[in-house]
Amino acid sequence: MPSIDPSARKRLTDLSVKVLVDNRRSKDGFQYTVPSPSSYPYQWLWDSCFHAIVLSHVSLEDAKKELLSLVSKQFENGMIPHMIYWERKEVINFKWGKEHTSSITQPPMLALAAWEIYVKDKDAGFLKALYPHLYHFYNYILTERDPRRHHVASIINPDESGEDNSPRFDVPLGLPTVQTLKESLESRLELVEKLKTCDFDAPFCMKHFFWAKDVPFNAILAENLSVLSKIADVLGFKEDSLRYAEEGLLVSRAMRELMMEDGLFWPTYGEDYVKTKVKTWALFAPLFAGIPTAEEARALVSGYLESPAEFKAAYPVPSVSRSDPAYDPKGFWRGSVWMAVNWFVRRGLKRYNMDDHGDRILQSSVELLERSGFREYFHPDTGEGMGAESFTWGALVVDMMNDGPSA
Ligand code: GLC
Repeated sequence: MPSIDPSARKRLTDLSVKVLVDNRRSKDGFQYTVPSPSSYPYQWLWDSCFHAIVLSHVSLEDAKKELLSLVSKQFENGMIPHMIYWERKEVINFKWGKEHTSSITQPPMLALAAWEIYVKDKDAGFLKALYPHLYHFYNYILTERDPRRHHVASIINPDESGEDNSPRFDVPLGLPTVQTLKESLESRLELVEKLKTCDFDAPFCMKHFFWAKDVPFNAILAENLSVLSKIADVLGFKEDSLRYAEEGLLVSRAMRELMMEDGLFWPTYGEDYVKTKVKTWALFAPLFAGIPTAEEARALVSGYLESPAEFKAAYPVPSVSRSDPAYDPKGFWRGSVWMAVNWFVRRGLKRYNMDDHGDRILQSSVELLERSGFREYFHPDTGEGMGAESFTWGALVVDMMNDGPSA
């Protein structure tokens, strides 16, 4: 464990709990947490999974409520929307396709969030209540997002990656490397209009407009399927357990076959799996699911994470490599540092026992929060905080300080 100053540890734990409590909302008998009251006043899918993981360290009941509110708006086809508008606010637009929720999803982190709760109190009743939702959600991803069973799931909008305007999607969107956030948002919202004309049909219709196989989304899927297998096993669903373990391995294997070249994993798009060779933190995402070999992992770290020409920074981990033409240290998902990225990369590194590198990320996350507060994203060279305020992702530092994957 890195030596985090005990007073900083206490201060950041208290501030993390405070932001989660301040951002907590209740409606219709459900409880959820908004990522930022002024900028993001709704419930978001992967944010709520992060909240639940943090809350599992401080209040298991609140962690459970966070996930139960999330699944309460699951669609009939199993999809869980990336946004739920419990209360309508006029801060951000409602062009996401449906009336009370959005019509797209986000990275499938739900099984892992549920498991992080379960390992702490062994409440199988909670897993049981959640299991039908998990079952239908992951089955939706495995079928509707991979109709030809090639074992990598597609996203139908960049926002489904959680990295709205990441340069990984410039080519499939037909956008130039230098672009404004407004241009990016417009083209992403155009996809939602297409989705409406497609009558919300992903596999047969949306694949003609945007059909990208992203690296973090699939690494998260692989890891969550293996966790879902453990959940099914706890509940005595032997066949499901075997099936999900197998599905997880199939995704890992297919990622190697379809996305990997010279030790690096690239997102692909379209039915022909055209690679988009844009260097973002997604290079490290497969570590999270244990997909690279130990040797490949070492090469990724020495050649990229710790290379000054690529991702090494005073405050790691920049979301885009310095060597990439799209790199913009102040840009939203185009170079700035995000706490969730730090959390994913640190977990990946720990999996490979590369604790020194992982601890540097924790140390830097602590410094960023101490210096700039709970901001949405940070400048990798100066540590300046940018974007939304009272943003919950900084609370992930609690999980990082209390360390990592549970058995
Ligand atoms: C931004 C982020 C997305 C997050 C949302 C709410 O759109 O890019 O990942 O879910 O804000 O915090």
